Amino acid sequence: MPALVIIGSQWGDEGKGKIVDFLAEESDVVVRFQGGNNAGHSVKIGEELFALHLVPSGILRPGKMAVIGNGVVIDPGVLLDELEKLEKRSVSVENLRISDRAHVIMPYHKMLDDAEERMRAGAKVGTTGRGIGPSYSDKVARLGVRMCDLVDEKVLRERLEFLVPLKQRILNAYGDTARLDLESICREYSDYGRRLAKYVMDTGPMVTEALTAKKRVLFEGAQGSMLDIDHGTYPFVTSSQTVAGNAASGSGVSPLWLDEVFGIVKAYTTRVGAGPFPSELMDDIGKHIADKGGEFGTTTGRARRCGWLDLVVTKYSSALSGFTGVAMTKIDVLGGLDELKICTHYNLDGVKVTTIPADLRVLDRCRPEYSTLRGWDDIEPARMDRILAEGFSALPRNMRKYIRFVEKQMGLRVVLLGLGRRRNEILDLRRKKW
Ligand code: IMP
Repeated sequence: MPALVIIGSQWGDEGKGKIVDFLAEESDVVVRFQGGNNAGHSVKIGEELFALHLVPSGILRPGKMAVIGNGVVIDPGVLLDELEKLEKRSVSVENLRISDRAHVIMPYHKMLDDAEERMRAGAKVGTTGRGIGPSYSDKVARLGVRMCDLVDEKVLRERLEFLVPLKQRILNAYGDTARLDLESICREYSDYGRRLAKYVMDTGPMVTEALTAKKRVLFEGAQGSMLDIDHGTYPFVTSSQTVAGNAASGSGVSPLWLDEVFGIVKAYTTRVGAGPFPSELMDDIGKHIADKGGEFGTTTGRARRCGWLDLVVTKYSSALSGFTGVAMTKIDVLGGLDELKICTHYNLDGVKVTTIPADLRVLDRCRPEYSTLRGWDDIEPARMDRILAEGFSALPRNMRKYIRFVEKQMGLRVVLLGLGRRRNEILDLRRKKW
């Protein structure tokens, strides 16, 4: 079982970073395959909180290879900053490898991200403003700059001599008066290229070689399935494919390697930015969950919208990515509530809906139908120690019922259970380790 993919089953922010960090201990290679620094993973080690945006969370485990695959878009300034911060805190970044095929986020991508959002006026996506969409647009339009270009000053200049005037015209058309300076962009970005060159290589064959040698490779998804460019709540999505199929393409390996997929299911639902959210809570319970769960973006600091667990969403994601197990996160946040609701299906004018409609006007009209379950008290520290020592049977009875309900509905076992912020507060319910 050398390849395991981790996929967010909701709208991102499911707590993937912590699960990846946990599983990274058992793996040899950790690969990111899509997204960019729109992602934010936070992992608490001892009293220290590490927030990662681009570097795979595997970097926090000494000796593991951390790979940024071809499917990722890279802001080189942000990456260098992140590497510097890690090194300052004595985390070695020696084992980082960056695909030479990965695309670069250029300064005009960030400006275009803002300009496009402004143009959308009343229908803003609420992007992270990191230039993700424009960078992927350029990749598809064959106007991108790749890491192999960034590390070659001559190629980079040739590429930018063509691209910068073009982007200037587009920015002007959007009403942006800023002037792009070819020389300073060339200077700044070739310097980034020089500093990153030692990490840049053809990573696909390297990952394939690791898989062939039966090394354990963890594919770390960013964002969530409902933000997938094809299958998410378009246009309120990110610009990459976030489902498991892309773990292969975005890393440059055969899909036949992918044999396990864990879906990360936060015990409730959150969403950042605009777009439909059927089980959203607009009341005090929603606010309580947001506060208790610390639901503020790692990347932008924006408050996340909160709602009940929506199984239409998680089952849809499971079908798209072929989940083989569920890692449930942040279940502790629901402690102390008398009653909990779980959305099992939607009601559309009297018709039962069990999947996500493409047309958002239809999704907007879907009313969530809930099953109500009894809550449990917060877990005290002494009880936490007992749970971690004794396992599932030591969990509060109603929490066990909540988990069993989700398992039955999704037809999957909960294999990992996140019970708190700390690195060790994960209950491992797998029959055998990876
Ligand atoms: P973009 O990825 O910056 O283009 O933003 C597009 C949409 O995806 C916005 O609604 C963002 O809030 C959302 N998004 C992007 N990355 C993340 C993430 O890591 N977690 C949650 N939402 C995200």
